[in-house]
Amino acid sequence: MSTREAPLGHLTLKQVEKRFGGFVALHAVDLEVEDGEFLVLVGPSGCGKSTLLRIIAGLESVSSGEIMLDGESLKDVPPRDRDMAMVFQDYALYPQMSVAENLGFGLKMRGRPRDEIADRVAAVAEILELTPLLLRRPRALSGGQRQRVALGRAMIRSPEVFLLDEPLSNLDAKLRVGMRMEIRRIQKRVGTTSIYVTHDQVEAMTMADRIVVMKDGRIQQIGDPMEIYDRPANSFVGTFIGSPPMSLIEAAVDGGMLVFDDGVRVALPADRASAVASVGRVLVGLRAEHVEIVAPGKGGADFRSDIGLVENHGPESIAVAVLGGVDILARVPSGELVAGASDVGFRLRADRISLFDMDGGAALV
Ligand SMILES: Nc1ncnc2c1ncn2[C@@H]1O[C@H](COP(=O)(O)OP(=O)(O)OP(=O)(O)O)[C@@H](O)[C@H]1O
Ligand SMILES: [Mg+2]
Repeated sequence: MSTREAPLGHLTLKQVEKRFGGFVALHAVDLEVEDGEFLVLVGPSGCGKSTLLRIIAGLESVSSGEIMLDGESLKDVPPRDRDMAMVFQDYALYPQMSVAENLGFGLKMRGRPRDEIADRVAAVAEILELTPLLLRRPRALSGGQRQRVALGRAMIRSPEVFLLDEPLSNLDAKLRVGMRMEIRRIQKRVGTTSIYVTHDQVEAMTMADRIVVMKDGRIQQIGDPMEIYDRPANSFVGTFIGSPPMSLIEAAVDGGMLVFDDGVRVALPADRASAVASVGRVLVGLRAEHVEIVAPGKGGADFRSDIGLVENHGPESIAVAVLGGVDILARVPSGELVAGASDVGFRLRADRISLFDMDGGAALV
């Protein structure tokens, strides 16, 4: 395989629906994946991620709607004729075959000439740093090395599209971090359009060009990682993406002020105040960094709270405070707060918080 520019690989889904009997697994999915893009599908278990990937690969039929690759409908194209390669979550290598044989097996089944197979195995092994391991059997490889062989089997065909379904879920935390960087490095190098499924929002944030957040078979939001983090389309996206999770608190709106249930009042900037002027109550979404500690003795605190737990994350800590009778999380420099501290002053970044509709949770700003 060469490190040529990938061919096209522009994927379009229009109003794709999937029903299993009476159950709707995917509702009217519209999606454009650009050439060479690394798109991450993320959402809780059962939201339809694998189903969507399998539909694109042709392993499941669509109930209605249309899928196109480079402008051509895939309706009558069987899976083996789609120029796509899929890495499944439970990838299985052939235990009796060497790494080289595992890598070349797909090409051999397609009747490619022996020389061509050897060349492409060598090229893929080089990219994945598997060259010294080509004669080993899978049982003599580490988890990460096996994972690379599984990726190599997909890459060797130089497909237009890679479909990766939780390919790192079998690995321990440290190996996952290494492999996710490696996958991005390889994908950038070969430039193949890729759809990567995960339920891990950290993986989504760190790897994606764009993220698609799904829930209950529906797309909730599509955007680049910072857009999704800073401007979640609804309270589900706000709480699903980001670590620690966003805190949600109800508050009343009164003349440009948020009024929390314990009487704390916080002024909203003009644009936010006007966006919620006509609603009586809102759901306030606070990220931990939107809650700033005020140094002792300094004024300007929006509210004061005793501190429950303080979780140390090295350079910073996450502290549990109370606002409006609800536990909220605050990001503070490590060493500034201890568990059990009392009457600590905090300021809210009212210019950055999210405001959601009480009914349905759609973003109001
Ligand atoms: N062949 C099938 N028949 C009936 N229901 C199915 C079938 N395949 C999937 N489903 C249902 O469709 C929904 C979506 O399943 P899917 O496997 O796509 O979820 P997922 O997002 O990949 O979840 P996970 O993160 O657990 O892998 C689930 O409720 C599942 O039970
Ligand atoms: Mg799945």
